[in-house]
Amino acid sequence: MIYTTFAQWDMKNKRIFLRADLNVPLINGKMSNDFRLKSILPTINTILNKQGSIVLATHIGRPKNKEAELSTQNLVPWFKEQGYAIQFVPDINSITQHTIIPQQILLLENLRFLPEEKNGDSFFAKQLARTAHYYINDAFGVIHENDCSVTLLPYEFPENRRSIGLLMEKELHALDALKNNPARPFIAILGGGKIKDKIPLIHTIIKKVDILLLCPALCFSFLKALGQPVGQSLVDDTMLTLCKKIMGQAEKSGISYLFPTDYQVAYNSIDGPLDTVSAPNFPDNAIGISIGPKTVAQFEAEINHAKTVFFNCAMGFANRPETQKNTKNIIDAMAQSAAKTVIAGGDSVDIALQTDHYQSISHLSTGGGAALAYLSGITLPGLAPFEEQ
Ligand code: 3PG
Ligand code: MG
Repeated sequence: MIYTTFAQWDMKNKRIFLRADLNVPLINGKMSNDFRLKSILPTINTILNKQGSIVLATHIGRPKNKEAELSTQNLVPWFKEQGYAIQFVPDINSITQHTIIPQQILLLENLRFLPEEKNGDSFFAKQLARTAHYYINDAFGVIHENDCSVTLLPYEFPENRRSIGLLMEKELHALDALKNNPARPFIAILGGGKIKDKIPLIHTIIKKVDILLLCPALCFSFLKALGQPVGQSLVDDTMLTLCKKIMGQAEKSGISYLFPTDYQVAYNSIDGPLDTVSAPNFPDNAIGISIGPKTVAQFEAEINHAKTVFFNCAMGFANRPETQKNTKNIIDAMAQSAAKTVIAGGDSVDIALQTDHYQSISHLSTGGGAALAYLSGITLPGLAPFEEQ
């Protein structure tokens, strides 16, 4: 277990670089919930109470250009509404010219607007390090990524000047129960987008669980690998060999993996008319976007027998609420079950927060891919700088 050490630092009149995951879910450019913002406040408040000054940094989305809707400037009004003294600083190099003002937050522009963040650039790490005396990583959602501010930057600070934050500690603690000694049967319900990232993670988590429920969109790469009809659904053809390997491994280890028996589909495009179809009769011109009602009932029965349920499975589209109904039904079943339940990921939590009983979920996690990666027990680049201490 890794613990925070930063509460012992003398932070008065010092700058603390705080890497957060403020990658808020956006619907048509508008923030749909502030879960990730609220989650970082315990760390922010601890620093500010000790008269420290914060250099706050995050990514938002996966920008190709400097898209205005992905600018961190959009987060400033939220912090001001909560009463924080916050200033947006677009130029990293100008930070050192600012006088240190205790209890002030200087918010950097979206780190991924600079290609160096993704390029493992050691000069960029040094440039960021010059802005602060201490480093805190509280960006749980990116511990499995190789972003420079998460992997290289911490090493620019001596061991006694780098720490994880309170959110990270809370996440790791909540997930340790699932990672080390889960009550069984342990079910993982996996779906949603980012299939290129998620399928390799299924490969690593497979041995930890008893039952895998594979859902849209990622189930379609597995089904295509099996030669089943998937119409025009999202498939990553580069993943088919890995999908076969995962299924072979599951069979050898006695792990069940279940596919939906029916689907909610849209015809011709994701905005097309909706329908429910059975799995064997998947139409050529249909795109699978969620599970159908028979599958909801079947998966509810699985949830009711489980002792542990992990969910990273945001199906449907936020701008078409009727496509998210069955995701909500599964979350409701989890909320009503006696199992230990975890819902992980920005989009999955966004849907959960729209349900009536989400308070009954044991843990809402700010990271989806990160939680999957952590549970599987693989070494994570974002945690390595703290594990060695
Ligand atoms: C997320 O939303 O999953 C995290 O913020 C990480 O984002 P990424 O998958 O683009 O690295
Ligand atoms: Mg996400």
